[in-house]
Amino acid sequence: MTIIQTLAAEHVVFHNVFDHIEQATPKLRTVAEVRALAGLLEALLKVHSRIEDHLLMEPLEPNLIQLGQHENFHAEHEQIDADLAAITKVRRVTDARKLLLGAVLASRKHFDKEERIVFPLARRLLAAKTLTALGKRWREERQAIATEG
Ligand SMILES: [Fe+2]
Ligand SMILES: [Fe+2]
Repeated sequence: MTIIQTLAAEHVVFHNVFDHIEQATPKLRTVAEVRALAGLLEALLKVHSRIEDHLLMEPLEPNLIQLGQHENFHAEHEQIDADLAAITKVRRVTDARKLLLGAVLASRKHFDKEERIVFPLARRLLAAKTLTALGKRWREERQAIATEG
């Protein structure tokens, strides 16, 4: 599998997770419940983004800068992280819910943009051999993170 096929498959799972969180969040009654769901999303996003940034965004960095998108992608990550971190500070469940749903919406937009801009760019600019080699590196990095605990 190429790195694009692999990351796109992960994106499909994330879109399912986003759907679930959007359905479940309005029914949550306590801040602790919202925090638990936010913590799960944060953990999933962290590993995905770390590997995606390292294996795909870094080789494409000059092209993303040229497109004026490089800063945007970074800023969006930071915004999502900040919203999720803020959930640990608020006391009212309505505020926690709003932050979580905001982080999900921002994540959806960010993922859509990666699918529209970054994946096609990688397909166009990187050799098929490179895309397959990066797919293999994805597996290795996932395994390394899993054994990190
Ligand atoms: Fe990203
Ligand atoms: Fe992604």
